[in-house]
Amino acid sequence: MTHIYAFANQKGGVGKTTTAVSLGAYLADAGSRVLLIDSDPQANATSSLGIDPSSVQVSLYDALIRRQSLAEIAIATPSLGLDLAPSAPGLAGAEVEMVSMLAREYLLRRALEGIVDQYDHVLIDCPPSLGLLTINALTSAADGVIVPIQCEYLALEGLGRLWQTVTMVREHLNPQLFISGMVLTMFDSRTNLAEQVVTEVRAHFPEQTFRTVIPRSVRLSEAPSYGQTILTYAPQSAGAQAYRALAQELLTRETQLEARS
Ligand SMILES: Nc1ncnc2c1ncn2[C@@H]1O[C@H](COP(=O)(O)OP(=O)(O)OP(=O)(O)O)[C@@H](O)[C@H]1O
Ligand SMILES: [Mg+2]
Repeated sequence: MTHIYAFANQKGGVGKTTTAVSLGAYLADAGSRVLLIDSDPQANATSSLGIDPSSVQVSLYDALIRRQSLAEIAIATPSLGLDLAPSAPGLAGAEVEMVSMLAREYLLRRALEGIVDQYDHVLIDCPPSLGLLTINALTSAADGVIVPIQCEYLALEGLGRLWQTVTMVREHLNPQLFISGMVLTMFDSRTNLAEQVVTEVRAHFPEQTFRTVIPRSVRLSEAPSYGQTILTYAPQSAGAQAYRALAQELLTRETQLEARS
């Protein structure tokens, strides 16, 4: 069974891409076949994996707008077991072009048909907005949305809008959609504020919040500039250990959910 998650939060710079890429690397390391879909015109996930977005021949744009299968678009990455459906600069135009297309909310879901069986996990990295690219990701996310939350002042601000969007998508487009996880990111143990954010998020979302908290780690911010995931760049670092633990926690949750159903 393939697990499909969208990584979304319309707030920028909260750790969506870092979480999708790092989790993808550790899920693959645990033996899972992983497809990472870079659904952000900024193409941060693509370049994080050492692939130059401007050199990409076929990208997610071709899947969404030209209706090519993701099978023709996915490429292997230097990170073992991790395939990528790359973004490219042209993806910025896709959101505009999608507006007038038939079944515009289902374009990604359709592109995934015929390829999902080849993977155990599909992780979709969303842009910092609630536009059609994010809606398409939410419509495709059979296992729900994972929301990275930065341990900062006003961490929960704007979550109401995300919540409304998730509810709207569940009611009209994907009845399976729910918030399956909240990941606390960039935790700085030296500040009281970070501690308060963790407590507040856990109080609001006791079920969803992952036990693993991702610390602020310079190594995590350096890895993308070397085109490497944290798994190869600095496997002993605190950030690496945290994402390894997060991957294990997700796998355990999936096993528990499967046992219950
Ligand atoms: N745990 C961490 N410790 C230190 N730096 C981090 C950590 N997580 C992410 N960063 C850095 O913070 C910045 C924002 O992270 P990231 O790109 O993952 O966020 P994002 O939510 O995907 O951003 P956007 O909304 O622009 O897509 C990046 O420079 C990244 O390297
Ligand atoms: Mg990003």
